[in-house]
Amino acid sequence: MGVQQLVILFLFFLPLTSTKRPNIVFIVADDLGWNDVGFRNPDMITPNIDKLATEGIIFDNAYVQPLCSPSRTAFMSGMYPFHAGMQHMALVRDQSVCVPLNFTFLPQELKKLGYATHMVGKWHLGFCKWECTPTYRGFDTFFGYYVAVEDYFTHSDGGYLDFRDNTIPARNYSGEYSANAFAQRAVDIIHRHNVSQPLFMYLPYQSVHAPIEVPKRYEDMYPNVINKGRRQYSGMVSALDEAVGNVTKALKDRGLFENTLILFTADNGGPIQSYANNWPLRGGKYTIWEGGTKGASFMYGAGLQKTGTTHDGMIHAVDWKPTLVSAAGATPETTIDGISQWDSIRNGLPSPRTEFIYNIDYFEGAFEGHAAVRVGDYKLILGYPGAFDGWHKPMNRTEDDIYVQPVFYAGDEPVQLFNVREDPTEHNNIAPTMPDMVAKLRARFEEYKKTMVPASYPDGDPASDPSNFGGVWSPGWC
Ligand SMILES: *[C@@H]1O[C@H](CO)[C@@H](O)[C@H](O)[C@H]1NC(C)=O
Ligand SMILES: *[C@@H]1O[C@H](CO)[C@@H](O)[C@H](O)[C@H]1NC(C)=O
Ligand SMILES: *[C@@H]1O[C@H](CO)[C@@H](O)[C@H](O)[C@H]1NC(C)=O
Ligand SMILES: *[C@@H]1O[C@H](CO)[C@@H](O)[C@H](O)[C@H]1NC(C)=O
Ligand SMILES: *[C@@H]1O[C@H](CO)[C@@H](O)[C@H](O)[C@H]1NC(C)=O
Repeated sequence: MGVQQLVILFLFFLPLTSTKRPNIVFIVADDLGWNDVGFRNPDMITPNIDKLATEGIIFDNAYVQPLCSPSRTAFMSGMYPFHAGMQHMALVRDQSVCVPLNFTFLPQELKKLGYATHMVGKWHLGFCKWECTPTYRGFDTFFGYYVAVEDYFTHSDGGYLDFRDNTIPARNYSGEYSANAFAQRAVDIIHRHNVSQPLFMYLPYQSVHAPIEVPKRYEDMYPNVINKGRRQYSGMVSALDEAVGNVTKALKDRGLFENTLILFTADNGGPIQSYANNWPLRGGKYTIWEGGTKGASFMYGAGLQKTGTTHDGMIHAVDWKPTLVSAAGATPETTIDGISQWDSIRNGLPSPRTEFIYNIDYFEGAFEGHAAVRVGDYKLILGYPGAFDGWHKPMNRTEDDIYVQPVFYAGDEPVQLFNVREDPTEHNNIAPTMPDMVAKLRARFEEYKKTMVPASYPDGDPASDPSNFGGVWSPGWC
């Protein structure tokens, strides 16, 4: 081979190497509160999360839905739940519903770009038929569970197992705490990964959702927290942190860390009635108050230019799919609700988003927030904001357990307006003094509402009974 051919060969390979796609690790913490991370609350012991967050970019205005399945719908599809029929509550295990099969999921997009795609953790996007489940929706492998909530050690719900290795029931993890089982699987995947392909790992941990269960050694990290529930919850957060640490260590050991982008987010605000904390924000999980809809979130790693900072741009859960597709070097779809935030985040520029919908849900008996819209600095809440209200500091006394009486409002009343830039804790309802702004936001809301798909929320189907499926929650009944 002559020099000329060598040069041509070199030029041919140069673009390939210089556009090497980053590995992407998308970590979701279930029911983690705004104030349940060490980088906000020095009483929380989360050194691994804090290091990534403070050396990366902490998001001050990254919004999520008030509940599990709706947020995960947004993460995977880039579509608002009210465009998918997923806006009402969270899926219950015996409902024959899943995110519509014609929605393209994030791993499907990344597979087209050559990624190996793995999921470890909680699905909660429906499983009544195989087509609804992770390995049929873009993931090469899946290790985890389908339902909303289960025991951290037995991996069962209602007495029936829900734990799988790909499609096969995984019966031999009984007694192993899920944070450890999931971190170990993620570590194994990283070690087995063929580095000629970029890696995508979606890692939605069970931690720190109820039930409050934690190995004693994590609980013992908080001897000063007198309230038992809060002490155990805090321990669960530290187990999650250790799991994050083990995954980052594996990436380093494998030489993949430098070219990895990590996105971390909660799926909703913390449930204040079960020991989570969103101080100083108002309300919590189930509500469209800021405490229910601002996710504890940050990004770290490959491609970020301006780090060690906070980013106050407006981001919604629907934006993560196109943002990660952009980070992978491709052009995201324009037909989805999400907008790529990649240039804005990586360069510290203003957000391309100027408005979003918190939720639109008029399904009868809604226990969570009905409807709210954000335009610029203003937020209009129409009707019931959700069951759990108020401003709560972390519990730290035996008598601190709170029970917040859910209060139901009828119809679209009351109407509340907040300037959430000046008043992020939602203390001052300015609707009475700003009728024009109320009218402006209401008109915007009505436009969105016209595009709403009715909530898909049927009664449970007895055909789901796991005793029909060898005692395991299984697809095959719709
Ligand atoms: C999925 O199909 C439904 C029903 O046919 C349609 O209304 C919707 O627009 C489709 N969505 C996507 C993302 O293709
Ligand atoms: C469970 O069984 C699977 C399949 O035999 C095996 O790969 C895995 O390592 C086992 N896990 C544990 C914790 O025993
Ligand atoms: C993290 O790794 C250490 C060392 O292997 C292990 O002892 C610990 O249980 C792991 N923690 C989690 C949460 O997986
Ligand atoms: C990794 O993938 C490449 C490209 O597909 C293949 O040639 C190679 O054999 C694989 N390596 C291993 C260890 O499987
Ligand atoms: C909880 O209260 C105890 C007793 O007043 C105090 O010593 C401790 O610092 C508090 N811990 C936290 C995390 O607030």
